[in-house]
Amino acid sequence: MKSGLSNIVVLTGAGISAESGIDTFRAADGLWEQHRIEDVATPEGFARDPDLVLRFYDMRRAALAHAEPNPAHHALARLDQEFSGELLIVTQNVDDLHERAGANRMLHMHGELKSALCLSCEMRSPWDAPMLDRPPCPVCAAPSLRPDIVWFGEMPYQMERIYAALREADLFVSIGTSGAVYPAAGFVREARDLRAQTLELNLERSEGSHWFDESRLGRAGDLVPQWVEAVLGG
Ligand code: APR
Repeated sequence: MKSGLSNIVVLTGAGISAESGIDTFRAADGLWEQHRIEDVATPEGFARDPDLVLRFYDMRRAALAHAEPNPAHHALARLDQEFSGELLIVTQNVDDLHERAGANRMLHMHGELKSALCLSCEMRSPWDAPMLDRPPCPVCAAPSLRPDIVWFGEMPYQMERIYAALREADLFVSIGTSGAVYPAAGFVREARDLRAQTLELNLERSEGSHWFDESRLGRAGDLVPQWVEAVLGG
């Protein structure tokens, strides 16, 4: 690891929450909690069968109550609290385990289960209840809420801020993501082109593994605390 790091960008994916009991997306059967991704993670799927989609995210939101941050989330929260340089944790995950572990310098590029987006007034509201029964929007009262999740075909959030951070990074670390979904899968090349060091921590080689300077294979709950200890320990 390069010494004298001053600017780190971390990208996390479903693999960092796997040891907390939250299913990853690309299991071998190609299904996600028994559903086709096209049915539950696209605007077309929502238009076709809104009840199916609302019920699906209601169940996932409710399941968060039974999941706890694992050592990988805690290690990144420690990095956030103790690293004196610049840091941005970009998560593709819609769970709230990074923030529950105590991370602050982070953003959710694919939205959040605990947020509602109103299709009528376009405002976002913190949300912790079911949506299937079409509750009113807290801002405009229209019964038009949808999960505040970035579906396939929609624009991820805060891309300008992410690319600005990548331009300044001297280390880019990707944790628990298959590298199958763009634009996140392209961050490693963006960082490399700008001469950042690149490190992958994943259970298996991701699709873009060859773009990384280094790949460490194993469980996030083991690899992330070791890496954070090395960064903070100098
Ligand atoms: N530790 C580290 N890595 C793990 C672990 C673990 N305990 N368990 C699984 N992994 C790895 C898998 O090997 C896989 O490479 O995590 C990766 C998870 O990949 P995906 O399921 O594809 O999840 P992700 O990359 O986050 O998906 C990206 O796709 O469906 C969309 O919007 C959704 O944000 C999601 C995006």
